[in-house]
Amino acid sequence: MAGISDSNFINKMIPYGFNMVTLGGYNTDKETIEAGKEIIKRGRKEFDVSEEDIYNHINSQVNNIKEFNGNNNCNENQNIFISANLRAITPEPIIGISKIKNLDVVEINCHCRQEEIVNLNCGQGMLNDMDYLNDYISQVVKKSKSYVSVKIRANIDGIDTIAISKMIDDVGADFLHIDLMKPGVGQPDLELLKAIRNETNIFIIGNNMIQNVESANKMIAFGADGFSIARGTLNGKLNFNLNQIKTKTFNKDI
Ligand SMILES: Cc1cc2nc3c(=O)[nH]c(=O)nc-3n(C[C@H](O)[C@H](O)[C@H](O)COP(=O)(O)O)c2cc1C
Repeated sequence: MAGISDSNFINKMIPYGFNMVTLGGYNTDKETIEAGKEIIKRGRKEFDVSEEDIYNHINSQVNNIKEFNGNNNCNENQNIFISANLRAITPEPIIGISKIKNLDVVEINCHCRQEEIVNLNCGQGMLNDMDYLNDYISQVVKKSKSYVSVKIRANIDGIDTIAISKMIDDVGADFLHIDLMKPGVGQPDLELLKAIRNETNIFIIGNNMIQNVESANKMIAFGADGFSIARGTLNGKLNFNLNQIKTKTFNKDI
């Protein structure tokens, strides 16, 4: 969550049993950083880090999480993946950040719907052009030193979420992180999840409205391999036990 999910926030969540945590989203190039400043001006939270500092900043955030882990504040057998959610108008900054030693996953943000980002054809705006998206993700997959996740939003007017999901699988990304938001419904679109499951083999992280064991189990039952929680962690606590939910183990050599 932009402006919220830094290492201190994440370190409070790790003891609840998460096996992947996501830093960011971060704006990583001149254009998205400028857009982020405009977003802040209208009162929304963003991380505001300069282009020259972004690599070192994420590196120190990652190390802060690693140190916390090493201090045994959580289950020492808990093998936690650290991911960073990144916005960039070209693949290069993401490829660069993938070289951070202890960063396990770079996540391409094709989800942000803030106007300033979408106007750059970034975030959710990337979903409008399948060829462009294919080329962008392919370049990251080819050159990344970390695993690659692609975060998308479902059910955008005029966008074929299933076709995009298949493409993300075909180009070799490691994770499809999908916000299954269905406008006007207030529930994740589990039928769409099921359809994507039937058409892909990629590790799917299902997202949207996970608030308890029941909603998490439903996400898994409809085909997600794992799930993610954003707003359910906003008060720095999780009010249910993650150990009660059986997710798949991600297992792929890089
Ligand atoms: C304050 C806030 C900031 C967010 N920032 C980001 C972001 O930077 N990158 C991203 O991919 N999603 C971002 N999201 C979206 C969430 O990660 C998630 O996809 C969405 O809130 C639905 O999941 P939930 O129902 O568990 O909250 C943000 C959500 C909130 C509420």
